[in-house]
Amino acid sequence: MTQIDRVHVPLGARAYDVVIGQGLVAQAGALMQPFLARPRVAVLTESRVAGLHLENLQAGLSAQGIASSAHALTPGEGTKSWDGLRESVEWLLDEKVERRDVVVALGGGVIGDLGGFAAAILRRGVRFVQVPTSLLAQVDSSVGGKTGINTRHGKNLVGAFHQPSLVLADIDLLDSLPKRDFLAGYGEVVKYGLLGDAAFFEWLEVNGPALARGDKSARHYAVRRSVEMKAGIVARDETEQGERALLNLGHTFCHALEAATGYCDRLLHGEGVAIGCALAFEVSARMGLCAQETPSRVRAHLRAMGMATDLADIAGDLPDAAALVALMAQDKKVQDGRLRFILAREIGQAFVCDDVPGDLLLSVLSEALAARP
Ligand SMILES: NC(=O)c1ccc[n+]([C@@H]2O[C@H](COP(=O)([O-])OP(=O)(O)OC[C@H]3O[C@@H](n4cnc5c(N)ncnc54)[C@H](O)[C@@H]3O)[C@@H](O)[C@H]2O)c1
Ligand SMILES: [Zn+2]
Repeated sequence: MTQIDRVHVPLGARAYDVVIGQGLVAQAGALMQPFLARPRVAVLTESRVAGLHLENLQAGLSAQGIASSAHALTPGEGTKSWDGLRESVEWLLDEKVERRDVVVALGGGVIGDLGGFAAAILRRGVRFVQVPTSLLAQVDSSVGGKTGINTRHGKNLVGAFHQPSLVLADIDLLDSLPKRDFLAGYGEVVKYGLLGDAAFFEWLEVNGPALARGDKSARHYAVRRSVEMKAGIVARDETEQGERALLNLGHTFCHALEAATGYCDRLLHGEGVAIGCALAFEVSARMGLCAQETPSRVRAHLRAMGMATDLADIAGDLPDAAALVALMAQDKKVQDGRLRFILAREIGQAFVCDDVPGDLLLSVLSEALAARP
């Protein structure tokens, strides 16, 4: 019997568990049973994930006598849209999903965000269960209740806070994840160590390579520790009035780079996060907040993992430093017109900083751009 952990997210009436382990999909029926008013669920997924994992999920449900119907959307970020939302909600209504029913979101962050938002607005809110299938979704997007879609104005601009009733993080699902997507998800894992747990970062320096090779106990621990950290932060600050902002370490840079590369596969979100974390440490060192050698240590680990680390790792053209700063200013994390960064006093000690000098920011970005081939 392999290990199964439950990380509780203590949010009063909206509290729930994140179950982490192997073979959870096969036990999905038993795990979901307590939440069902009747033995039937509607599963939202996408075709790539459906081809790999839907049958196992439905078998796990029917083993407990739970009937399920499923709808597979087109894979990819483009599905997190008004069209994808309409398709999802109309299908759920076709399936006669009722107020007390449960919607299951089986997929990566795209399906989790979209399915969660569809559940949030269907009949003014039905419960939903997340079955995250990507590393990014297991350690980040499935936990915390942020749901939503993109619009032509930008990413995640329309949505709702809607906490899931249960999250099943089955680490076996990650076996089929392409290496590049796995490493992108790892960008968010490193982020947790960098923002609040130096010991976890040290553990990753030692165990990261084994984890990437598929070591199950290392994967289990990394997912659990990441979820514990996110759960703790979300429990203390559910709607991002303060501490939850620390989860945006690396993200102000990331969002500008994603906008500059057109949100396509030139740069995956988690790759932008990794590069953004390295830049945040660079800015922190230049401001004298952390030791001068810390940014190199961060980069050394990312490089050892075979990850994108610098602007030089992004193929194709990038705008100049001033244009990148202008893109940052469009980010929704801007408050009262001031750029908000998450910086660090050391590895594991991030804080919110509203007064990064503009010229220092420009010179860090210009130098990073100049190092591109
Ligand atoms: N809600 C939040 O708090 C939060 C946090 C971070 C990111 N996000 C959102 O998450 C999204 C990114 O998530 P993602 O990286 O999981 O994207 P994704 O859902 O597009 O999945 C990435 C790729 O992996 C494939 N895939 C997923 N699981 C697989 C599996 N088990 N085997 C094989 N292939 C698999 C998908 O088909 C896709 O091609 C973005 O939209 C982002 O905004 C949300
Ligand atoms: Zn992120």
